[in-house]
Amino acid sequence: MEAIAFHTTQYFIELSDLAEARSIAPEKFTLGLGQQQMSIACPPEDTVHLAINAAKKALERFAISPDEIGMLVVGTESGVDHSKPVAVYVHQALGLPSNCISYETKHACFGAMAAISAAGDWLISGRAKNRKALIIAADIANYALHSAAEPTQGAGAVAMVISDQPTLVSFDRATAGYFTHNVMDFWRPLYAKEALTDGHYSIECYLDALTHTLMDAKPELPRLSDLAACLYHVPFVKMATKAHQRHFEFDQNLSLDKESPNWQRLLQSYQAKTQPWLEYNARVGNIYTGSLFLSLMGLLVKGNLEPDQLISLFSYGSGSAAAFSLIRPVAGYDRFRRQIDPSQDLAHRTKLSIAQYQDIMQQRDQLLTENDRIDPAYWGLTAPYLYSGNRAHIRQYSDFL
Ligand code: CAA
Repeated sequence: MEAIAFHTTQYFIELSDLAEARSIAPEKFTLGLGQQQMSIACPPEDTVHLAINAAKKALERFAISPDEIGMLVVGTESGVDHSKPVAVYVHQALGLPSNCISYETKHACFGAMAAISAAGDWLISGRAKNRKALIIAADIANYALHSAAEPTQGAGAVAMVISDQPTLVSFDRATAGYFTHNVMDFWRPLYAKEALTDGHYSIECYLDALTHTLMDAKPELPRLSDLAACLYHVPFVKMATKAHQRHFEFDQNLSLDKESPNWQRLLQSYQAKTQPWLEYNARVGNIYTGSLFLSLMGLLVKGNLEPDQLISLFSYGSGSAAAFSLIRPVAGYDRFRRQIDPSQDLAHRTKLSIAQYQDIMQQRDQLLTENDRIDPAYWGLTAPYLYSGNRAHIRQYSDFL
């Protein structure tokens, strides 16, 4: 990986405000789910807008020319069209070469990991011809107001450039574990704007998939003690806590509860290998395909890694598909910390009241058309973005406030 950058929305809500509005103890969201804030998408922010802006940052901050890109894949489960991919809008907005292969991948939150795998195959196939792959994980997690899943929404995109000259991390192609199993844990039928989920069952499915990928990665699977960091898909921070417990139990071949003598060892392992990298996830919420890579950004910004140390990645897409894989930091990766760090983007967001958030959620889907997305005014990066307003049906952000 040669570049990674993040883009999120202009607005967020505090989960303690949401808890108060729903007459729920705030600790359920902040401690029980481990979430602090949630990015809220407001028109013209949709998956295309988020993807374009993350990709612009990745190319500009890492001084990569659009001409160097030969493959563009957007992993998303909240695309804007049943047929036309998000990727082709990004292709136009970034001015990528016309001989660039581009498409969209979907398998719930697994879509971007599938795209990275395809990029790796493309790079070693001989067809890349010294060009690089731009992979974007872009999503808006959207559940019904007042539902149990409401505090686990979020919005954002992570763009990554994958090449055969990695400067951040390299992918270990020898070790991988995969799992596919048809389950109804989380889905969004064609008629639905909001995802449907059997929440507690989805947690079981996620953990079951993790166990199967670990089994499949044997005999090359490293011991937990050989891993410098363990990253997991993060629909909410507490899910990564549960995942690390399952990983620990698998490694130690035991089953734990809080009374177990090994509980303290589990906590120490979690605090050393997973927890420190989850701050951005706690402030953004679930960004589906990008959540795993947002915690990778946390690790690259805050971790003190030695070159070639092993880091595990677990990607889970509901429905379901999962992969366990390994990466290694490249010597000198830490000189890019400033380019990677998304703290400024998070600090510049504006807080919404719960009444404003509800207003946006109820109206945002009606506000954009296909033609808006090919208008260069829509590709803007700077905040506050104001739509040109030349379409009667488009409202400006400020109209909501
Ligand atoms: N203080 C502290 N903690 C509290 C508390 C309080 N006052 N009240 C409750 N809690 C704790 C609970 O004990 C629980 O923690 P544990 O799981 O560790 O026991 C936690 O808060 C959540 O409480 P509930 O389980 O009662 O919460 P819920 O049933 O209302 O909803 C949810 C939780 C099922 C995750 C729901 O938010 C949901 O459906 N989310 C969407 C589905 C999802 O994200 N699934 C994840 C796996 S699937 C996946 O990863 C793909 C994807 O991205 C969607």
